[in-house]
Amino acid sequence: MPAGEERFKREILSRIPLRNEPPLPPDWLHVEMLERFRVLRFASVKGGMNVLEVGCGAHALTTVPLAYLVGETGRVVAVELSRWRFFEEVTTAAGLKHRIIPLKTDARELPFPFKAFDLAVLVHGVRSLKNGETIVKVFSELLRVSERVFIAESLPIANNERQKAHLGLYNLREEIFEALFGRKDDLHYFPLEKLGELVENAGGHVIKSGTFEPALPHYLAYIPREYVAQIKDEKKRAELLEQWDKAYERWKRGAEHPPVGWLVTGS
Ligand SMILES: C[S@@+](CC[C@H](N)C(=O)[O-])C[C@H]1O[C@@H](n2cnc3c(N)ncnc32)[C@H](O)[C@@H]1O
Repeated sequence: MPAGEERFKREILSRIPLRNEPPLPPDWLHVEMLERFRVLRFASVKGGMNVLEVGCGAHALTTVPLAYLVGETGRVVAVELSRWRFFEEVTTAAGLKHRIIPLKTDARELPFPFKAFDLAVLVHGVRSLKNGETIVKVFSELLRVSERVFIAESLPIANNERQKAHLGLYNLREEIFEALFGRKDDLHYFPLEKLGELVENAGGHVIKSGTFEPALPHYLAYIPREYVAQIKDEKKRAELLEQWDKAYERWKRGAEHPPVGWLVTGS
């Protein structure tokens, strides 16, 4: 067991209530948060740091372990464009709300005039940045306002059947979102080399990088069938429902987090 993990579970995760959101198991949020904690081992977060997080999302999955790691004298500025639904509930339950400054803004244009952070973090958020142009714009903003930038994202690699089950369902999401809303979200994961190229296009350089296996179940590929059934285009709906049925059969027998790629970058 990695150092500090037992303490994080005992002091923080145990305070966060279980959730009743079938077919996800009641501890899905705890498992996902533990995965973010493991990812952050590679980010060299230290006590007292002033950290910027971009794309924190509705459940503060990375924000909570980050706020834990910066300690009582550190701060996390958590940026998010639109999804805040459970953020306050989760950060309050974790007992870490006072270390976090939530900021509703677009990461393509951050409201900081200079390098105001020791570290900027984007964990499992590249997938939400729509296209290459947006990704480069956000990376260049992170590099502009922070000394170091840590980027981590799942990789399009399956080393076993359970990781294949995750990718099978996850890879339908980009097309489902596009058919439903006319815009992409949850892009197919990029290879690590591609993430490095995007960093360079943003004017940064890769200081260190690597991949690791979280070795945990992964629940967040799940998307309810009812959503897919709302697609207006009849042919697309039938096609995606058929693919969803097949992918869900495999997913419900167990899905595992695929390997994660990470990069420490600077300008
Ligand atoms: C996959 S989600 C949450 C990732 C989260 N960090 C985690 O650990 O699971 C990525 C988030 O990025 C947000 N997002 C997308 N584009 C953004 C932008 N331009 N500025 C700020 N947030 C953005 C989305 O609203 C979404 O909530």
